Amino acid sequence: MFDQRKLLLEAAERAIRYYEALPRRKVAPDPDHLARIGELDEPMPEGPCSAHEILTLLDDIGSPASMAMAGPRFFGFVIGGTLPAALAANWVAAAWDQATGLHDVTPFTARLEQVTLGWLLDLLGLPADCGGGFVTGATMASFSALAAARCSVLAEAGWDSESDGLFGAPSINVVVSDEVHPAVTKSLGLLGLGRNRVIRVATDGQGRIKPESLPNVSAPAVICVQAGNVNTGAIDPIGEICDRFKRRGVWVHVDGAFGLWAAASPRMKHLVSGVELADSWATDGHKWLNVPYDCGVSFVREQESLRRAMAINAAYLPPSEERDPSHYTPELSRRPRGVEIWAALRSLGRSGVADLVERCCDHARRFARGLERAGYEVLNDVVLNQVLVSFGDPDRTNRVIEAIQCEGTCWAGGTVWQERTAMRISVSNWATTENDVDQSLDAIIRAARSCT
Ligand SMILES: Cc1ncc(COP(=O)(O)O)c(C=O)c1O
Repeated sequence: MFDQRKLLLEAAERAIRYYEALPRRKVAPDPDHLARIGELDEPMPEGPCSAHEILTLLDDIGSPASMAMAGPRFFGFVIGGTLPAALAANWVAAAWDQATGLHDVTPFTARLEQVTLGWLLDLLGLPADCGGGFVTGATMASFSALAAARCSVLAEAGWDSESDGLFGAPSINVVVSDEVHPAVTKSLGLLGLGRNRVIRVATDGQGRIKPESLPNVSAPAVICVQAGNVNTGAIDPIGEICDRFKRRGVWVHVDGAFGLWAAASPRMKHLVSGVELADSWATDGHKWLNVPYDCGVSFVREQESLRRAMAINAAYLPPSEERDPSHYTPELSRRPRGVEIWAALRSLGRSGVADLVERCCDHARRFARGLERAGYEVLNDVVLNQVLVSFGDPDRTNRVIEAIQCEGTCWAGGTVWQERTAMRISVSNWATTENDVDQSLDAIIRAARSCT
């Protein structure tokens, strides 16, 4: 007879074994493990199969073939792992399976998300009465926030974009920097504002907007700034830009996918000074807060604009006196992503989040010092958690990146920064220790010395 309890306990045990092995395993999967992925390339089954067999297939083939992104020596992209409290919360919430759109149908998760939103605003120093939504990531957070921006700046110009669309609407001036993340331009495209129909402004050697290069746009207008350049970690002069443009009625949106978390650290928050003056913000939980994918958050000062952009009503959707989450996110049905954020914040507290952010920044500086001491050139000012290092010409740098990915002690990717090919090291995992950094430094330097 099918034993459901036995299956779920076995799934938990297999997942725990994987999670506990992360610090010891090679980061990238071995080629022979990757070769086994082909075993799943089979025709659609005609009949049922036991859940136990499915679990065994997934774990036996999938676990060794996975990239150890959740582990302490994965430094590719800005990924982060999963805090134990967040993982546990994710498992329980998966069992609840709450489609958190309507408060009165899922009162617990809807309320928990509201509490979590308040905690995030407090922790990040943003206005307490902002609206917000729990979405899949920073891309959808920017999409949501910019939908609110579009709604608000056009309403100011006498146009109801939610009802009447964009045909015939007053034109919106959209300003981005040369270093805008593609997630923002994609969002602008999805919103009918155009990926390329934007004014691009110049940045400095670290990728920060040069305020003097900003044109004197006037409303209706949106300026997209950045907290955390994806290569250098640099942060735009947000306070200065807000001071100058807010009085002209221009909406300032901050893409703070990872850099906004600097605001949670007393030591780092000067980097984002004035960020609270903006109109909207996008950030991720799944990067620096170390909750599982997928989890991002939008914050919008004018709560009503986010609601107008996202509201959804139908006779079969019972409205509540309380806050219905579906009025603040693009989706109607979705998992309650705020649960893992709540668990992470509840387990770390204010001091734990600050410590997590500061520790990652310290590790990034340790990487930079070690690489420079070994004679390699660090291309950025290491202000946050990002390190860009060149090992000489592009070909040699690419060979070092390939060698380190194959060797498996750690994993770092490549990029091109202001025409220089570089290895990009992002430190954002809660579990990374100084020892992980030192082991990784040894491996990278060994790889570099072997690639002459
Ligand atoms: C600055 C910045 N903005 C936006 C994004 C997109 O975030 P997500 O992948 O969570 O949608 C990223 C992801 O790396 C990022 O670094």
